Amino acid sequence: MKEKICVVGLGYIGLPTSAMFASHGHEVIGVDVNEEVVKALNKGEIIIEEPYLDILVQAAVTSGNLKAYTEPKEADAFILAVPTPITKDKKADMTYVKKAAEAIVPYLKKGNLVILESTSPTGTTQDLIVPILEKSGLKIGEELYVGHSPERVLPGQILMELVHNNRIIGGINKESAEKIKELYSTFVKSEMYTTTATTAEMCKMMENTFRDVNIALANELAKLCENIGINAWEVIELCNKHPRVNIHQPGPGVGGHCLAVDPWFIVEKLPELANIIKLSRDTNDSMPEHVCKRTEKIFKDIEGTKKVTILGITYKPNIDDMRESPILELVDLLEEKNYDISIVDPYVKEYKHLEKDMKKAAKDSDLLILAVNHNDFKGINFDELGKEMRNKKMFDTRNYFDQETLSKSGFEYYLLGEKGNQYIVDQKDALKEIAVTK
Ligand SMILES: NC(=O)c1ccc[n+]([C@@H]2O[C@H](COP(=O)([O-])OP(=O)(O)OC[C@H]3O[C@@H](n4cnc5c(N)ncnc54)[C@H](O)[C@@H]3O)[C@@H](O)[C@H]2O)c1
Repeated sequence: MKEKICVVGLGYIGLPTSAMFASHGHEVIGVDVNEEVVKALNKGEIIIEEPYLDILVQAAVTSGNLKAYTEPKEADAFILAVPTPITKDKKADMTYVKKAAEAIVPYLKKGNLVILESTSPTGTTQDLIVPILEKSGLKIGEELYVGHSPERVLPGQILMELVHNNRIIGGINKESAEKIKELYSTFVKSEMYTTTATTAEMCKMMENTFRDVNIALANELAKLCENIGINAWEVIELCNKHPRVNIHQPGPGVGGHCLAVDPWFIVEKLPELANIIKLSRDTNDSMPEHVCKRTEKIFKDIEGTKKVTILGITYKPNIDDMRESPILELVDLLEEKNYDISIVDPYVKEYKHLEKDMKKAAKDSDLLILAVNHNDFKGINFDELGKEMRNKKMFDTRNYFDQETLSKSGFEYYLLGEKGNQYIVDQKDALKEIAVTK
């Protein structure tokens, strides 16, 4: 049946969801407070980067099934897909969700569905959304069906994952959950599991927390191995040969709007109980400083002003998203040490110290820090790049480069999760042995 769906918030989640419903025959009213988004959409254009989304949106707009506005309109179902960031003091900022819920109240009618898609702290649907919707005068759960259906898509493959990912549908009652499930069955080809709204909220936060905690464990292992004098990456590789072990990868920190944010929602709610979660967040947040401290050690024998060239500043490889990227903090910390800084990131258009040309960025540099393992960095010619540098040193925070290749190009190679410059130490030891044999 053709439904009228009003989607509030047309970003990475709301826009693909709108286009998906529209391309499956529903009439979609897209709402965003950002006029630029609305104007672009009504011309069939998008202002975010996501593969194939432009094509889907253009087709949806051309068909007449998708139109954008700055205010909501009457509909059969309302989907809220607005941001849920954290404040500076690591508390959930629910102002967008509150405003979006308030904005739809005048348009609600008997039989409508309201679905919160934004990742939210437990109790949001029941204790924040429901009281706002009650202002419509409709009986919640009987005349107005309400629930939470969190989104699990991965940027870069959102369209595929919207269709093929499993979905959790949490209703404030059973009827709400079933009605929401029916709506999503328009395009979801995978399993959909119904539960309560609060359980669905906790599931979404816990999925990201699981990953954050496991990365923290890997980061702790990296620090332990640096201290003991062994290679954390080798430990991980060998441990993961165990059939029931899967240690994650260490790195210079955890970023993005999910892993670095959602665990704080749990900590905020029950700080006295969420001990492991808090410690993991703090561990991951400590990594930029750890990288900075190791940089200082690498520089200990270099006189005068030192220059660092950072490769990559996004929060993960091969995308342009810098939200909550730990590398931004690393840049600030290195600035505080008064190092000269240059940054190369093929995905980023504008940021301080950004240099388009790799050779220019490396000119007179003393150290390259591989911060993000963008595919583009695989092809670096270190023989050529090394000629530009004052000191040929590489600090690899992702175990991305081959130690021996770099060494052949004259680089000293330092690895996060491994003490000092293992390769050079090995060389010296080997030479000592030869000397003794003589
Ligand atoms: N992006 C992801 O990969 C992803 C994955 C899973 C879950 N989520 C969650 O989905 C939610 C939305 O995230 P996003 O990445 O789409 O955010 P986004 O920042 O890309 O888009 C949000 C949009 O909402 C608009 N907006 C803000 N307040 C509004 C209001 N009151 N009325 C109408 N429009 C409003 C903004 O202008 C913006 O265009 C968040 O809770 C996020 O945590 C995101």
